[in-house]
Amino acid sequence: MAVFSNPARRDRRQTSSVFITSHALVDEVLTTHDVFSSDEIRYSASEVPHRDNPVLHSMSAMDPPRHHELRRMVGRAFTPRTVDDLTPSIEACALDLLDRLTPASDFVAEFAHPLPIATLAALLGVSDARRADFVRWTDVITSFFGQPEARPDFVTAVAELRDYLLTVPAADGIIAGLRESGLSPDEVVDFAALLLINGHETTKTLLVNTVLCLAGHPAALAELRTDAGHISGTIEEVLRLRPSAGGTDRFTTRAGTLGGQPFAAGERVVVSMAAANRDPAVFSEPNTFDIRRSPNPHLSFGHGIHFCLGAHLARRQAAVALRTMLDRLPGRWTVDDVVTRDSPVGTDVLSLRLTWSR
Ligand code: HEM
Repeated sequence: MAVFSNPARRDRRQTSSVFITSHALVDEVLTTHDVFSSDEIRYSASEVPHRDNPVLHSMSAMDPPRHHELRRMVGRAFTPRTVDDLTPSIEACALDLLDRLTPASDFVAEFAHPLPIATLAALLGVSDARRADFVRWTDVITSFFGQPEARPDFVTAVAELRDYLLTVPAADGIIAGLRESGLSPDEVVDFAALLLINGHETTKTLLVNTVLCLAGHPAALAELRTDAGHISGTIEEVLRLRPSAGGTDRFTTRAGTLGGQPFAAGERVVVSMAAANRDPAVFSEPNTFDIRRSPNPHLSFGHGIHFCLGAHLARRQAAVALRTMLDRLPGRWTVDDVVTRDSPVGTDVLSLRLTWSR
């Protein structure tokens, strides 16, 4: 079914919501931003607790024209060149982590969690002296995701991040560029918090899902070993079948119809990228893991004006990680002791053990 009212999503804040699963309609919602707004504070029919939530003040919760202005400003600091400049440090970090990984290690704690944090620290130019603090801020701020109210440790972490970002001499990373880009101090902090929230768990999940997919498909892993040209196709297919963010939401600015179904103003519209990515109208054999799939128009990075700003960085991290893992972890991969927890956007893998042939 493409569109249906979903009582399960009728949480304490929202009077009603619509759940979208077809590729065409998810695409329509994400690209029709004048009707399906990201501005929850303005358009949600119910009161939104937002005072301490930097994400609800960041560009991801804005519509044009302000969204365009902010995206243009941060785009000056966060460019394809930024990703190229980060690549050697991503590679060095991946190799260092893999050198210490043993079959007894928790792959999540020892590889998938620290690699994207180190990348974000390098992106923001966090000094070695504050790395431990940065890891703590990232963990606390990202754990806020999906919570209705800010907890005291979240408020403290945002305050410490704020102090750091606004006072530290910014020699490396994009902070100096952001400060000079015309963003206000509050906007610099909101944007940095958005990068942590959008950029860490998602990339960690992509790394974990890559291992799960390849451990479950030894023929694909063997093919990759003989032809590394399939690395990018593999990552796209992992993103399609196991999107790190299973869905996102919008708020209707007026009444209208979608897929022939009426909706009212102020409704929450939940779009499921996880479902759209398996829409048989777009993907043949949608449940099959196929590293040669082409084209692969998955929606895991969204679409339209809010298309993931970090998609290039996420893809680069996953490609570097996979290349180094193919090199350092030979043979067939086996996954054991997987511990999971359900989250608002899917299932988080908390820990797993990965073994390979020596
Ligand atoms: C937006 C997914 C990694 C920064 C988004 C959106 C999705 C997404 C689906 C759009 C949400 C919407 O339209 O409501 C992912 C996935 C990632 C990933 C699956 C990794 C596998 C990253 C990274 C960064 C990042 C590494 C930065 C370091 C952002 C930002 C936005 C965004 C800033 C907001 C863009 C805007 O509102 O214009 N991401 N993301 N993401 N992402 Fe990512």
